[in-house]
Amino acid sequence: MNQSTFPAGFTWGVATSAQQVEGGRHEGGRGESIWDRFASRPGCIADGSTPDVTCDHYHLWARDIGLMRELGLGAYRFSIAWPRVLPLGRGAVNQAGLDFYDALVDRLLEAGLEPFPTLYHWDLPQPLQDAGGWAARETAAAFVDFTLAVTARLGDRVRRWTTHNEPWCAATLGYEEGHHAPGLREPATGLRAAHHLLLSHGWACGAIRAQVPAAEVGIVLIHSPAYPLRETPGDRDAARWFDGFFNRWYLDPLFRGAYPADAVADRVARGHLPGGGMTFVRDGDLAVINAPLDFLGLNYYSRALMTTGPDGRPVAAPPPAGAGVTDMGWEVYADGLRAALVRVHREYAPRRIYITENGAAYDDPPGTDGRIRDARRIDYLRGHLRSAAAALDEGVPLAGYFLWSLLDNFEWGYGFTKKFGLFAVDPVDQRRRPKDSAHWYAKVAATNTVGDDDPATSEGDPRAFDD
Ligand code: FCB
Repeated sequence: MNQSTFPAGFTWGVATSAQQVEGGRHEGGRGESIWDRFASRPGCIADGSTPDVTCDHYHLWARDIGLMRELGLGAYRFSIAWPRVLPLGRGAVNQAGLDFYDALVDRLLEAGLEPFPTLYHWDLPQPLQDAGGWAARETAAAFVDFTLAVTARLGDRVRRWTTHNEPWCAATLGYEEGHHAPGLREPATGLRAAHHLLLSHGWACGAIRAQVPAAEVGIVLIHSPAYPLRETPGDRDAARWFDGFFNRWYLDPLFRGAYPADAVADRVARGHLPGGGMTFVRDGDLAVINAPLDFLGLNYYSRALMTTGPDGRPVAAPPPAGAGVTDMGWEVYADGLRAALVRVHREYAPRRIYITENGAAYDDPPGTDGRIRDARRIDYLRGHLRSAAAALDEGVPLAGYFLWSLLDNFEWGYGFTKKFGLFAVDPVDQRRRPKDSAHWYAKVAATNTVGDDDPATSEGDPRAFDD
């Protein structure tokens, strides 16, 4: 039997985010987020849904912790909704919003799960967007207020803090490509937003450490290693271009205190930096962004396969013939996870790395017996966990793995059409139904090993996870 083994003490978890699972839109004094506003605009969400209720985790959180406990997990990565804590973005703190996370943290600890919060997973308070959003430097200062309000309340029990989730997505999908809230299509604004996200991270690191001396602080980046489709100079340069645009734009300032010169030149060439440079970067900003980190979170879903379009510009190539593809259209490319981990370890040397998201969207309806046979998800997870184990063998200081996601949830612009969960969620009665992958993942967490058993035989105890 071919087995990959993880070290004792390796953290197994699941990840969610507030906007995608909580609901409770109008409860507990919560304010409006940019996603509430974006989703209310016709045509912005594929199925016309809103995040008003989603998985109702706002009410069902204790049951959801029960599920994580049954899975035998060691940690829960969740995010804290800024509009719950500061409904107007700044100013008066809403204690009821903090009460929610306070109770969540207590119950997690009672259940033996480490709370692993992310401060910003894209749900900016709308009033801050009205004042410019992340394109405004003041938003970075407001993020410090929010951070301090949260650490003052939870810092006695939460040790590991993540500032941001995937600033590339917040800046580029939100301000540059318009797929995400706030839905702008302004590349120059996107680059300003990216800088202020990074700056707010650096400031927040200092604030967290000042308030919680034992804290460990990190940030979560999405990482897709870029490969040329063909070994031609054009395709190789397209891969370099993507790596600078997507990966190094964040890694370099965080770990080296400088934006990557080649990627800045690419942006200048495209006219995305009016004035010819990074005029929004002030003296000292990069030293702030370069604050030492205790850990780096990496989210990995797929690689980027790059080629050149008819106009000579870099474009993503379609997945190779025969490659597996998830419902997101993303190629299943497990070795990219090993490659990403090894590359980041060798070139940037974070003290510790967590895989903070990895998972796959597949829609597998229940069989007539009610069982959800999501063999493709199990295959995806098995391949990626083996790849993570290979990175450990190559010396990567990998400390844990958070599967995306516990529940089928509100997948941003796709609404509820993309299903990433270990549990299906009934949109009417909110019942959570375990998929085969939930049983499979529980076995991985219990044994610290990933074998090559047939997914079809990996059915767990049917009594487990009963509501
Ligand atoms: C990541 C996001 C997460 C979820 C997954 C599928 O980029 O962080 O919220 O949408 O993709």
